[in-house]
Amino acid sequence: MDRLQIEGGVALSGDVRISGAKNAALPIIAGTLLADGPVTLGNVPHLHDVTTMIALLGNMGVQITVDDRMQVEVDARTTSKFVAPYELVKTMRASILVLGPLLARFGHAEVSMPGGCAIGARPVNLHVEGLRTMGADIHVDHGFIRATCKRLQGARLVLETVTVTGTENLMIAAALAQGETVIENAAREPEIIDLANFLIAMGAKIQGAGTDKIVIQGVERLHGAHYEVMPDRIEAGTYLVAAAITGGKVRLQNARADHLDAVLLKLKEAGAKIDSGADWIELDMQGRRPRSVDIRTAPYPAFPTDMQAQFAALNSVADGVGTVIETIFENRFMHMHELQRMGAEMRIEGHSAIIRGVQQLTGAPVMATDLRASAGLVLAGLVADGTTVVDRIYHIDRGYERIEEKLAQLGARIKRLSSRKG
Ligand code: UD1
Repeated sequence: MDRLQIEGGVALSGDVRISGAKNAALPIIAGTLLADGPVTLGNVPHLHDVTTMIALLGNMGVQITVDDRMQVEVDARTTSKFVAPYELVKTMRASILVLGPLLARFGHAEVSMPGGCAIGARPVNLHVEGLRTMGADIHVDHGFIRATCKRLQGARLVLETVTVTGTENLMIAAALAQGETVIENAAREPEIIDLANFLIAMGAKIQGAGTDKIVIQGVERLHGAHYEVMPDRIEAGTYLVAAAITGGKVRLQNARADHLDAVLLKLKEAGAKIDSGADWIELDMQGRRPRSVDIRTAPYPAFPTDMQAQFAALNSVADGVGTVIETIFENRFMHMHELQRMGAEMRIEGHSAIIRGVQQLTGAPVMATDLRASAGLVLAGLVADGTTVVDRIYHIDRGYERIEEKLAQLGARIKRLSSRKG
């Protein structure tokens, strides 16, 4: 298993290009199952999760090719198997995103039930209930969700909890359903808008994406299209915190400030100077130590749970006391214990962590437990005294493209220790 070795203490500086968004690319690739012509996708990030989604479609008989610039070409007309097997689903819960499109296009889907994961139970009941309301017949047995339908019927779907992939699954399914579907209490994440724009490019009729009420008029067929995936706002946020925590200055290319309002607000509160244009963001910490900030995660446009671990790292070395409250996932504090091993001072009470910033963290061997937790540990390593080795970085490779190269380009002393011998 690969590890990342970091020598802390360098203020990051320079330019870095942000990749396409993982959480937009995954539903968009799943959505290509709807098209009855070839689809090409650009700005697709080269990540393990994307490779898994591509393998999932390939396994169904979809013709899918990826060139060396990660331009992805998909032709779903050859789909012959409507199955998402356990071997792939267990490595990526977002595999559930093929359920809606398979049902809507082919009337049949068998998707291995995603299990629990490191950050909590993460059920998919709202995906299943929504599709049932649209007329699908769904059973769960032997660890599989088995679903069949004639043509899905438009319906009014009121989501009990705001769910990102749930909203996406239902929006994709509704695009080919008969009649009108209204999704109430829909997630409002920018990735939902990106998926809607992609479906619209294929001929779907969707209004209201980005609000809590999405209205979809089902169409008979969707055609091929070309689409460029939006930039990754969580990757962007992570590099901004990397600069802030080290007292540095970075400029992100291919980044959208309007997707990061809650995060930028907190970085300004921490003392960062921030400037931005249509597709760039610059953060300058002017060598200063950050001030502690209070954060509370909640669905977009509030502060994203996927940035919680990075801000926990920031608060660990900031001036003052900051509270971090996690409201989305029940078990997303595993990185806190690793930060404590690096000298962070905190008290954890249920879903809250009260963190008193220390002058200096100390490098230590630490273990990544999930994707964003590992990003938090890498950031802590950048500012810690001495050497930090982050183990189990396959988590980080799921969501960050070439993280060690990009950080090294900003001056960080970081290298990948490969477990492969020879
Ligand atoms: C997506 C993101 C993930 C992010 C999360 C929250 C992708 C591929 N992943 O995950 O990076 O951390 O949004 O912003 O886009 N819930 C139910 N029943 C359901 C579905 C969800 O109770 O059927 C609950 C979950 O347990 C959780 C909350 O709803 O407490 C939000 O989860 P959800 O938005 O569905 O997260 P994901 O879509 O899995």
